Amino acid sequence: MKLPNGPQTPQLVQILQWILNPMTYMEDCARRYGDIFTLQLTSPMVFVSNPQALQQILTRDTKEFEAPGEPLFLPTLGEHSVITVSGEVHRRQRQLLMPPFHGDRMRAYAQVINKVTEEIISQWQIGKPFCVRSAMQAITMRIIMQAVFGLYDSPRAQALEDILKIMLDRGGSSPLRALMLYFPALQRDLGSLTPWGTFLRRREQAYKLLYEEIQERREQADSSRTDILSLLIAARDEAGQPMTDAELSDELMTLLVAGHETTATALTWALYWIHKLPAVREKLLQELDSLGDRPDSNSVLKLPYLNAVCYETLRIYPVAMLTFARVVKQPLSLCGYELEPGTQVMGSIYLTHQREDLYPEPKQFKPERFLERQFSPYEFLPFGGGAKRCIGDAFAQFEMKLVLATILSRLELALVDNSDVQPRRRGLVTGPNRPIQMVVKDRHQVQSRTLETISG
Ligand code: HEM
Repeated sequence: MKLPNGPQTPQLVQILQWILNPMTYMEDCARRYGDIFTLQLTSPMVFVSNPQALQQILTRDTKEFEAPGEPLFLPTLGEHSVITVSGEVHRRQRQLLMPPFHGDRMRAYAQVINKVTEEIISQWQIGKPFCVRSAMQAITMRIIMQAVFGLYDSPRAQALEDILKIMLDRGGSSPLRALMLYFPALQRDLGSLTPWGTFLRRREQAYKLLYEEIQERREQADSSRTDILSLLIAARDEAGQPMTDAELSDELMTLLVAGHETTATALTWALYWIHKLPAVREKLLQELDSLGDRPDSNSVLKLPYLNAVCYETLRIYPVAMLTFARVVKQPLSLCGYELEPGTQVMGSIYLTHQREDLYPEPKQFKPERFLERQFSPYEFLPFGGGAKRCIGDAFAQFEMKLVLATILSRLELALVDNSDVQPRRRGLVTGPNRPIQMVVKDRHQVQSRTLETISG
């Protein structure tokens, strides 16, 4: 089978380059081979960054391509997660999971988002530096816990949050973890002091807590609850069947994992850019002021410059470098190559967002580009597309805007170190290559810029 061109270096070298320096590696390959190239990872993988080809892949997701389950996520999310299943089961799980993350159900979380943000930022002290990423993780974790479980203040929720933090941040972001995920042979439980053994034990603790919570909810059914767990317990598929405990716990884990790390990283980058570039901050503050004394969350959502800043943040260093893999179902032509069934194809979100022809001076942070022209869903795709498009896309953008609006309205912040920050791999997503520290210079009184009143 003739695959698109790609590096001829040994497979192991390609894997190491991909794990250690994925963005530079993709850029080098794009310069040498163009919009489509093949890397020999654990299996051959075709990377695509051409918008027409991406449209073909993402709009014919179920006809010419299929979306298989993602094996890399199996150890963390289990075999019933919407991310690891495929076909009809995948379609069913998506249908059950989507409703709470859209429309009025989603907008009902505005108060939770604002309350949690206020709580966390009230702990920051004037003049004392804090790590932006940890602070954003605390905010997004608490928000997703409340959205998923309803009540946050239970000892079980606290225990779960603590374990997930350790599992995902300390262990989950290292290149070693990425290596272990790519090579299942390295996933050996050699005791509680080894990296994989530690991971398995923490995962087991997290699942124990999830099962306990599900059990308790089943026993104390309360039809007035609107949190996601209650909705999922009550949900029935087309055949009238409820989700099993195993399905429920894998989906809860999926939402907790996919729903906090990603948004926290996006918020960290947004705060970095806003404070790195004073003109951007000034413009945002003017726009927020224009809402007057009692803005509501819908008005914040519609602010054009805030929207452009969030888009540019998700463009320049997308949290997810790639879409999940799609597999060719029938012989087809893509960017001039004839691809055979079984070929694995991924959309390179990073390379697409770095295209000079779409985004002149792509390494510059310029929110104005999103005010000056509209980009198609295959030119700007931070949340992927098609059959596996991110379930939390609207929720993540809603959350980003409300959190940023609250922080900017309440606090005057500054970067501790103004030098440039670059992206790097953090497990299966990307993030800043060094901790970004900020400091509170001043607190605004609750007056014109207060967002205390932002509620649904
Ligand atoms: C800035 C934040 C986020 C970014 C950049 C992001 C990005 C992505 C991307 C690129 C995909 C793969 C799409 C594809 O292959 O076409 C994805 C899938 C997914 N995301 Fe997100 N995501 C974010 C936040 C969230 C949140 C808040 C949730 C849930 C609460 C979430 C849940 C999911 C799930 C469940 C999938 C798998 C969908 C499926 O397999 O059908 N994500 N996300």
